[in-house]
Amino acid sequence: MNDPRHPTDTAPHTVLVTGGNGFIGSNLLVQWVTRRPDLTFVNVDCLTYAGLPESLAPVADAPNLRQERVDIRDAAAVQTLIETHRPKIVLHLAAESHVDRSILGPRQFLETNVGGTFNLLDACRNLWAGDTDCRFHHVSTDEVFGSLGPSGQFSETTPYDPRSPYSASKAASDHFVRAYHETFGLPVSITNCSNNYGPRQNPEKLIPLMIQNALAGKPLPVYGDGGNVRDWLFVTDHADAIWEVAYRGAAGQTYCVGGETERTNLELLNSLLQCVAEGTGKSLATLQSQIQFVKDRPGHDRRYAIDCSKIKADLGWQPSHQLEDGLRETVDWYLANPAWIEAARARGHDEWVKRQYVEAGRA
Ligand code: NAD
Ligand code: DAU
Repeated sequence: MNDPRHPTDTAPHTVLVTGGNGFIGSNLLVQWVTRRPDLTFVNVDCLTYAGLPESLAPVADAPNLRQERVDIRDAAAVQTLIETHRPKIVLHLAAESHVDRSILGPRQFLETNVGGTFNLLDACRNLWAGDTDCRFHHVSTDEVFGSLGPSGQFSETTPYDPRSPYSASKAASDHFVRAYHETFGLPVSITNCSNNYGPRQNPEKLIPLMIQNALAGKPLPVYGDGGNVRDWLFVTDHADAIWEVAYRGAAGQTYCVGGETERTNLELLNSLLQCVAEGTGKSLATLQSQIQFVKDRPGHDRRYAIDCSKIKADLGWQPSHQLEDGLRETVDWYLANPAWIEAARARGHDEWVKRQYVEAGRA
């Protein structure tokens, strides 16, 4: 396939995105629907608690965006969807994405993340029937590699070692994607990415949860000793990486994607609270006094770190946001969008938080 960043290089075609009402999917669509008016985009999302119509407000009236309310667990519906839209490119993001939820209710993760991915692969195999000028791109996670000690990094050759029901379901779906390439020749690619942050992330996740609680004067629950390390990447950098790999990455290949920004959760929280203090005029000391150490997540992976030299060398991608700038942009977005936060909370966040902290015995 030619380089589609230059519209004249490629014929008009359809890009089907699953999970476009979620955090990463909505940022990807807002970015690429606008950049590529010559392409038709189809968003496939069944609007779980994590899917918000409001997240696509910036492109709601775009003439090149269609919406399909389909549950990817429904094989027949997925088959019809793929036959109807005949996409050249599938960017598969729809998933159950929260590790804590996978501990309390793992079945949904098996059904959506494994079964849903299988349904999409099979429908694409039927449609494409040997055509290689197309691509099934699977958006996966660094969590499939397990947990690192104090040194080392994950790379494309790291053996899989998933430890939560979420990461096990993502690992299984990665294996199905590869198997469809090896067995049936389906043109696939996979990205395994580190922790994303930015606008429109569900308030169940660390950064938006801490922003909300900081603003409300509530406790800031840090699991365990706060020494777990994550590598943070601004969400639009991830969206660019997905696009680059789907169009320019080699079929059958995996690319590790990360922000080259490792922080302990406590370090990250302190940087975030600094941004909240600057954005609101609240006292940093008061915000820090809200930090509470709570019971640890079961099986909590200690450290993730990504060696993303392959995508940098092969495709010229690199992260463009410094963490402190990205955190400021994120805090500013949440401060400016209280209606979005209310909509997200109304779709289940409050109920979830109550279950998590009361039933699972967290402080
Ligand atoms: P999210 O939870 O914010 O959004 C998931 C979206 O998928 C929602 O819009 C939801 O309605 C939709 N969805 C869920 N089940 C569905 C189903 N059965 N049928 C149709 N739609 C369904 O997730 P996210 O954080 O945007 O993550 C997107 C993808 O990226 C996931 O596959 C996740 O594993 C992967 N990923 C996320 C991160 C991260 O830091 N958030 C990092 C690496 C990889
Ligand atoms: O690494 C990529 C993964 O990053 C993605 O595949 C997942 O979809 C995404 O949710 C994210 O997983 P994490 O479990 O790392 O993200 P979460 O925001 O839930 O937690 C980040 C870290 O913060 C983790 O070490 C747990 C900790 N934490 C989280 C919450 C919600 C807390 O200490 N307190 C909290 O209240």
